[in-house]
Amino acid sequence: MPLTTDEAVSSPCGSTPEEPLLEVRGICKRYGPVVALDGVHAAFPRGEVHAILGENGAGKTTLMRILAGEETADGGQIYLDGQPVHFRSPYSARRHGISMVHQHFALADSLTVAENLALTLAEPREWRLRRRALAERAQYWAKVVGLEVPPLASPVGDLSVGARQRLEILKALVRGPRVLILDEPTAVLTPQETEQLFALVRRLRSQERTILFISHKLAEVRDLADRVTVLRQGRVVAQARAPFGNMQTLVEAMVGEPQMEWARPPAQIGQERLSLDRVCTDADPFGTPLRSVSLSVRAGEIFGIAGVDGNGQRELFEVLAGMRPLKSGSLRIHGTTVAARDPKDLLDAGVGLVPPDRRREGLVSEMSVVENLLLHRRTLARFTRRYAILDWLAARRYAQRLVEEYSIRVPDLESEAATLSGGNQQRLILARELAARPQILVAAYPTRGLDFAATQFVYRTLAASAAAGTAVVLISTDLEEILALSDRVAVLYRGKLSKSLAPPIDPVRLGALMAGLEADSAR
Ligand SMILES: Nc1ncnc2c1ncn2[C@@H]1O[C@H](COP(=O)(O)OP(=O)(O)O)[C@@H](O)[C@H]1O
Ligand SMILES: [Mg+2]
Repeated sequence: MPLTTDEAVSSPCGSTPEEPLLEVRGICKRYGPVVALDGVHAAFPRGEVHAILGENGAGKTTLMRILAGEETADGGQIYLDGQPVHFRSPYSARRHGISMVHQHFALADSLTVAENLALTLAEPREWRLRRRALAERAQYWAKVVGLEVPPLASPVGDLSVGARQRLEILKALVRGPRVLILDEPTAVLTPQETEQLFALVRRLRSQERTILFISHKLAEVRDLADRVTVLRQGRVVAQARAPFGNMQTLVEAMVGEPQMEWARPPAQIGQERLSLDRVCTDADPFGTPLRSVSLSVRAGEIFGIAGVDGNGQRELFEVLAGMRPLKSGSLRIHGTTVAARDPKDLLDAGVGLVPPDRRREGLVSEMSVVENLLLHRRTLARFTRRYAILDWLAARRYAQRLVEEYSIRVPDLESEAATLSGGNQQRLILARELAARPQILVAAYPTRGLDFAATQFVYRTLAASAAAGTAVVLISTDLEEILALSDRVAVLYRGKLSKSLAPPIDPVRLGALMAGLEADSAR
């Protein structure tokens, strides 16, 4: 049973003799009709990693922005060292030792690393910092906090997401914060970068700093946090202290309803639907060409492609979407070679797509929900009458049925797709693609950025699609996801695909393949 706020408050999980470094009592915040925070109590002791868990929209970012002086609460009080404090700006919060690193970094792409650091590293009244001095100071701080600084002359736009994040964290740490707030820091990181970040967080904790860490990934919380506060709809619904034991209670508190233990039923594997034979491609600048990639996916099967982002995932997706020509090798569908020169060649052959970038490629943001649901060659054909006239009445009924079947939360069918949450956009894309009954479904990063409930929905939908006989290719950097769903798994590394592994799959072996430690060349 989840702990309620009252229980958590009246019987704190273990008592701390000293007072907490930071504490909030009764924090409230409204945005017009939306109650973002509704009387939040929480205490953050010194030298602890405190995870803030909650679904999208639960109020996590708002609470942290209030602590960082970026927002003012409508009610309630913040205490630092037991004293009431009022932060009128981020500057005043920083002076009290609280720094925040945002989910979407504030770094400007065209500036260089040096230019980005200059402001933070300059002394007061030092309006022009010489390059040599800047480099020295950057190296000094990097050493102090144990972070690698990217080359000072490189434009920020060229850095990997992990490197950008290190730069933002470095800027926050230079101010010597007592409390460091990280808003969903791992959402965009590779597993290796996540490990580096966790190592840093543990080092900061050992220096008696307090780290507030927003996440909706349970595995991370279990690995890293000393304490967790769960928010739902602006309220604290559970608080707990490590070891968390059964995470089920926290999940239920977060999602607000009992969650079934979900496991994929055994697959009925049929005939080969899709195969690649020694496919080589070119790549875009900063991309990775495919080098002799072979694979074969059968009806009813989920074939997982694991790997660190940037190892040819983009190129592989484009090949399977008919968007990237082959330099050599072949692509076969139902045993027949398809010369895919155009995305429609593969759509017509029965390929459904869940693209990597759902906002830009998965839907047309300015179009309505109903238009986006119709945005498929086969679907449009179904509702097009003579003289190319669309039967809107039938089309709207069809869209309404999909909205219900896939629980897409929309104000109405005419709302712009851009106004939907990420989870609802992904439901829309899955609804559109699966309603067209694909023979093959290629899903790239299908749960990136989604919260727990939306992620579970995507898992169930992909599994149901495979159970109905679709051959599913799942491209993902999320190892847990790959292992939970796939019948077979192969790893992309520098444009080469490893031979495929079948369960039980050893995650350590998989990790080694992902890091290129095991040269396991094409099958
Ligand atoms: N600046 C804002 N203006 C209007 N509504 C906002 C603003 N910031 C947050 N909200 C709303 O407050 C609620 C909580 O948001 P947020 O704190 O960002 O949640 P989380 O970080 O847990 O996903 C959401 O309903 C969100 O739409
Ligand atoms: Mg947030």
